[in-house]
Amino acid sequence: MFNVILFGAPGSGKGTQSQKIVEKYHLKHVSTGDLLRSEIAGGTQLGMEAKKFMDGGLLVPDEVVIGMIDSTINSNKDAKGFLFDGFPRTAVQAEKLDELLEQHNAEINIVLALEVSEEELVKRLLERGKTSGRSDDADETVIRSRIEEYRKKTAVVAGHYQQLNKVKTSPGEGTIDAIFASLSTEIDQVIS
Ligand code: AP5
Ligand code: MG
Repeated sequence: MFNVILFGAPGSGKGTQSQKIVEKYHLKHVSTGDLLRSEIAGGTQLGMEAKKFMDGGLLVPDEVVIGMIDSTINSNKDAKGFLFDGFPRTAVQAEKLDELLEQHNAEINIVLALEVSEEELVKRLLERGKTSGRSDDADETVIRSRIEEYRKKTAVVAGHYQQLNKVKTSPGEGTIDAIFASLSTEIDQVIS
């Protein structure tokens, strides 16, 4: 298995780049944000619980997302690999992911980190909020809370994988195709 984490702040382009990467490298896309939004759309109890946190721009409790990842990995045992988008987002999630992959004799092969200025993040999310219907894009206070959560709880995840020498940082500003090209170069170097 070849497993990638696409890492970056809210609005850094994880979802946009994930679509291109999974198509090129035939990986299974796992976005905890998308999984949680589909629970909300389905009106499940998990979704209703998660919504309270998401609407305020706060992280959902670790055990909720770890449970979702555990079942996704178990139900995709034949996957060539996974692209994790928006997960892990805390130190606890990172440790748990390493453990879960180890149970399948796999590991994280590369962490691609997208760097985007805060100004640009806010601009992108406010712009998308005009049409996305995502409640957490609708106002600037919630967008700033998401960025704050990222700084307080998620930034440390990069440190966890830096110790293992797995992090490759790329600029997340520029055209979507140019960013994709540089992410592809990083992946190709690890594959070869
Ligand atoms: P999640 O769904 O993961 O959202 P996010 O990380 O806050 O960020 P986005 O998905 O909005 O941005 P992105 O980086 O994917 O960028 P995108 O490609 O969309 O999480 C939502 C919530 O769920 C969290 O707040 C939390 O509550 C909960 N949650 C999720 N995972 C969790 C976890 N593991 N633990 C706990 N809680 C969790 O691009 C953004 C915009 O920019 C788009 O409009 C796009 O078109 C545009 N764009 C992209 N690239 C470019 C470019 N190069 N130039 C110009 N515009 C661009
Ligand atoms: Mg996303």
